[in-house]
Amino acid sequence: MKVLSGIQPTGRFHWGNYFGAIRQYIALQDNEQAFYFIADLHALTTIRDPQELRGYTRDAAIDLLALGLHPEQATLFRQSDVPEIAELTWLLMTLTQMSLLEKCHAYKDKKAKGLPADAGLFTYPVLMAADILAYDSDVVPVGADQVQHIEVTRDIAQRFNTTYQSDVFVLPQPGLLDHSAKVPGTDGEKMSKSYGNVIEVFLPEKKLRKTIMSIKTDSTPLEAPKDPDTCSVFALYRLFASDERQAELAERYRAGGMGYGEAKQLLFEAAMDYFGPARERRRQLEADPAAVEDVLAAGATAARAKAAEVLDRARQACGLSKRG
Ligand code: ADP
Ligand code: TRP
Repeated sequence: MKVLSGIQPTGRFHWGNYFGAIRQYIALQDNEQAFYFIADLHALTTIRDPQELRGYTRDAAIDLLALGLHPEQATLFRQSDVPEIAELTWLLMTLTQMSLLEKCHAYKDKKAKGLPADAGLFTYPVLMAADILAYDSDVVPVGADQVQHIEVTRDIAQRFNTTYQSDVFVLPQPGLLDHSAKVPGTDGEKMSKSYGNVIEVFLPEKKLRKTIMSIKTDSTPLEAPKDPDTCSVFALYRLFASDERQAELAERYRAGGMGYGEAKQLLFEAAMDYFGPARERRRQLEADPAAVEDVLAAGATAARAKAAEVLDRARQACGLSKRG
């Protein structure tokens, strides 16, 4: 099975990104082919500050390595280090129906709000299709919000194969991410950068504590029994704690006599324990930027070799000359 996924460097990773996506695709890294990339070309549709983009891209690489992505098993690279993708995007664009892209949510949502949309946002799904098709990927693990883009990829790939009576492109399937793992943010809504309610994975200890203490809870008095099933602190605690620990805390909620402050302290300790080894690895990686660059450079070489091969097939099929 050939697995591929990408993540945009549009901010520091939060618990939602980790439990909803990163952890799950790292678990797939021992597949025959596992390609993971940092989608910096896609991020250009939202980030217009070069320093910021460079910083988030670098942090994304360090974070992924610290969180357990092993470069001996999986290929990690920056999307923009594979220029073949841009050329492939053009070939795909010539076969993409406008009506298909008009239905895509990122563009549609912006338009519905009356905001101006650029061609980059409109054609974003075609760039994503090129990412996927360039590596003959079979399975693309993504969050629920991205499944539509895999459908678009299949549509474009099929159109290309039919038009040129070829089997240049492999049709990918969306991967099986656990979409039920919707992580709540500090206000109880879905955790998301755009809602300003995130808890970042690698926040410094003091800030992490402060953020956890700011999680919204109801006004049940300390001595009264509490319902763990409607409490965001408990929902977050469940991500980190063993079944036994969860049952213990649920029992204490129901018994009364425990304040939310204490539950938050337990959550803080559980999160520190859980990400402790990753935090240590991150410190080491941060002190050795050349080693991180080496991983990305080796990843780019491997990814380019594969993308060039697929691009050649596409060029041949549609009547362009073979690349020199
Ligand atoms: P954000 O909403 O913060 O901008 P992204 O859209 O960049 O996050 O999400 C990147 C990945 O993380 C996607 O696959 C998405 O499904 C997953 N993800 C983001 N937030 C959550 C959440 N609260 N719970 C579960 N998964 C999430
Ligand atoms: N658009 C994806 C997101 O926002 C990131 C991405 C870009 C991607 N290219 C991809 C994901 C190819 C999977 C496969 O989350």
